[in-house]
Amino acid sequence: LNVMMGAARKAARSLLRDFGEVENLQVSRKGPSDFVSSADLKVEKTLRQELKKARPGFGFLLEEDGEIAGEDKSHRWIIDPIDGTTNFLHGIPNFCISIALERDGELIAGVVYQPLGDEMYHAEKGAGAFLNERRLRVSARRKMEDAVLATGIPFHGRDGHEPFLRELGAVMKHVAGVRRFGSAALDLAYVASGRCDGYWECGIKPWDIAAGIVLVREAGGYVTDYQGGTRMLDNGQVVAGNDHLHVPLLRLLRAANP
Ligand code: IPD
Repeated sequence: LNVMMGAARKAARSLLRDFGEVENLQVSRKGPSDFVSSADLKVEKTLRQELKKARPGFGFLLEEDGEIAGEDKSHRWIIDPIDGTTNFLHGIPNFCISIALERDGELIAGVVYQPLGDEMYHAEKGAGAFLNERRLRVSARRKMEDAVLATGIPFHGRDGHEPFLRELGAVMKHVAGVRRFGSAALDLAYVASGRCDGYWECGIKPWDIAAGIVLVREAGGYVTDYQGGTRMLDNGQVVAGNDHLHVPLLRLLRAANP
């Protein structure tokens, strides 16, 4: 965790400088609503260098550079240099650096760093989840009607909007509010910290959610795919919630798109 947090803090320096002058960044389009900027590439490069220096053999799964095998076949870093790139590029201050560590296919540590608010979320399997020094616990809300949930809107042309709109319609009838913040890693961090009572999204990539999954689990919450299984990194579906609301949310989503 110290290595991960140190790397995130170092990479955040260039990220904050670039956020101050987003209009000067080089931006290219990877998909209909999917962008990469020179800021993403800089952060990814710094993270790679720092993590490689500390653990030379580990492999990588990177949002921008893809899979890079390491000599150590057991360990792999899963990295999103900027989760919330669209926010970042529009000057919306909700984005973060996300780093997870996987050992033999199991997620064992996660760091989500929101540099503007200096919020360092971190968790290690079996050791709890923290926001800076404060121990995190998912919310205790029991009733859907009191819940505030986060979600993500699938990009047009990736999964189509219809299934999502059915989900949203079904969920909205039952909850106090639904939010779309624009960073899946922070959405999961918000579930871990109890700010949100749950979160769902589909069509998501492993680097968007890997670190956040560790945070939610270590804060006492549940994270699954839509079937209630744990193949979130493979099928890009994620449903998170506290122990009272996770199953009711799963039921609503399944009923929306049987
Ligand atoms: C995106 C964000 C967003 C989610 C998208 C992701 P990126 O990640 O997490 O909240 O709705 O599905 O792709 O592209 O900014 O790293």
